[in-house]
Amino acid sequence: MSGPAIIGRALALGVMLALAGAAGVAAQEQSMATPEAVAALPDRPGKAGIVQSCSGCHQPDIVLSLKRDAAGWRELVDQMIARGANVEEAKYEEIIAYLAQAG
Ligand code: HEC
Repeated sequence: MSGPAIIGRALALGVMLALAGAAGVAAQEQSMATPEAVAALPDRPGKAGIVQSCSGCHQPDIVLSLKRDAAGWRELVDQMIARGANVEEAKYEEIIAYLAQAG
């Protein structure tokens, strides 16, 4: 009578995979951006990417606190990525251009 045991194990594995998947999505999409911080950022291409990728650990308008050129922002964004920021490849250049114009 091993049938029910196998079904039980399959169910347990399914639940574990579902939990792991949900946790992964939550970590990526976690955002603590306040409406004020989002409004503080000038509306230009790249803003959506910054709000999406740079709001997990601090407010996205923290980017207004520094003035750097594109090379400087590349360095900083790469540091944020090393810390865990999830920047979509396709949005990277747009974000750098936005940051180099900000402030
Ligand atoms: C995984 C967490 C995390 C994410 C996501 C993140 N940052 Fe940060 N950021 C930090 C931490 C922690 C600090 C604290 C300041 C320090 O220790 O340098 C910081 C500080 C900053 C600062 C201030 C640096 C200074 O010297 O005053 C800027 C600007 C910044 N982040 C920009 C960004 C941008 C742009 C993004 C998105 C590409 C981003 N952050 C995403 C963790 C993160």
